[in-house]
Amino acid sequence: KTKVIRMNPQELDMEGIREAGEILRQGGLVAFPTETVYGLGGNGLDPQASAKIYRAKGRPSDNPLIIHIADMEDLEKIVKEVPESAKRLASVYWPGPLTMIFQKSDIVPYETTGGMDTVAVRMPDHPLAQALIRAGGGYVAAPSANTSGRPSPTMASHVEEDLDGKIDMILDGGSVGIGLESTIVDFTEEIPTILRPGYINQEMVRRVIGQVQMDRGLIQADSKVKPKAPGMKYRHYAPKADLTVVEGSPKAVQEKICALVEEKIRAGEKVGVIATEESIKAYPEGIVKCIGTRADEESIARHLFAVLREFDDCGVTYIYSEAFDTPQMGQAIMNRLMKAAGQKKIQV
Ligand code: TXA
Ligand code: MG
Repeated sequence: KTKVIRMNPQELDMEGIREAGEILRQGGLVAFPTETVYGLGGNGLDPQASAKIYRAKGRPSDNPLIIHIADMEDLEKIVKEVPESAKRLASVYWPGPLTMIFQKSDIVPYETTGGMDTVAVRMPDHPLAQALIRAGGGYVAAPSANTSGRPSPTMASHVEEDLDGKIDMILDGGSVGIGLESTIVDFTEEIPTILRPGYINQEMVRRVIGQVQMDRGLIQADSKVKPKAPGMKYRHYAPKADLTVVEGSPKAVQEKICALVEEKIRAGEKVGVIATEESIKAYPEGIVKCIGTRADEESIARHLFAVLREFDDCGVTYIYSEAFDTPQMGQAIMNRLMKAAGQKKIQV
């Protein structure tokens, strides 16, 4: 049975943190909250700890882990060099929902980087995460704390659902703030390249470092171009039901979804709808869940993964979702939603 320690991130229980840090130093696994999603932490410099992470998640071993640090001085020990532009980006967005990729130094084991010569590094902006990293020796390898293929966990109960009995400890610091994984920027390319969109969008990166491009494998999600981040090629966040996104003007979307729901219900299916506060009344049939409000796109990002998990639990066979092309995080939200949908979209 996995030990769960609850604590208020504003009032850290330092005894609990010490205990968790000790588990990491001994090669064990501790799940912990960050501002993006919950992470499954192990000592990133210990090959056996990384091997345990892959096993607990059921994750393919060619899919590299992110090393989390808490202090800027710790960066140089695990990377070969840090380009000027990366230093500038770090000075603006670290600690925060940003991961950067560099050439790795020799002390980073290939078990952590999935056999790659590069390493992904992030400095999370969460007091509990920072305290744990420091207590655990400074370098915490952590993928999202879900079973491979399930939506990323945004609260401790999601971690328990997936990993109870498979890891040593869960630090429960409540619900996360952002709800989507960090933006990944690869600095080993000629032009810095976004491999995964997140809260920090392309324009926010461009304003700080000038030139930045999107990975071609991301833009052409259904083409033969493979995404550069190994994790982005898998069909992540796959809900059990068959999910389709419907895009167009609000009225046309609502009419189309209503028609689809009615048709499926008549065929004996159990159907879910992902709606917003603005549209929820437009859907009289099916199991309708409110993801948030369009007046606050952060509410939509924060609830996406939890809503997908709820639908897994209530046994629907089809889900129809509105599209969320919101101003700042639209690209990140739609990236996750379209992956969950296996890229199925109806344009109306
Ligand atoms: O917000 C986050 O980044 C969360 C929290 C826990 O920090 N972590 C997270 O880790 O999302 P994970 O393992 O679920 O996703 C890491 C992604 C994967 O798609 C992986 O393929 C990619 O980063 N990645 C890691 N190292 C890489 C590298 N050296 N080169 C290219 N892609 C890399
Ligand atoms: Mg993940």
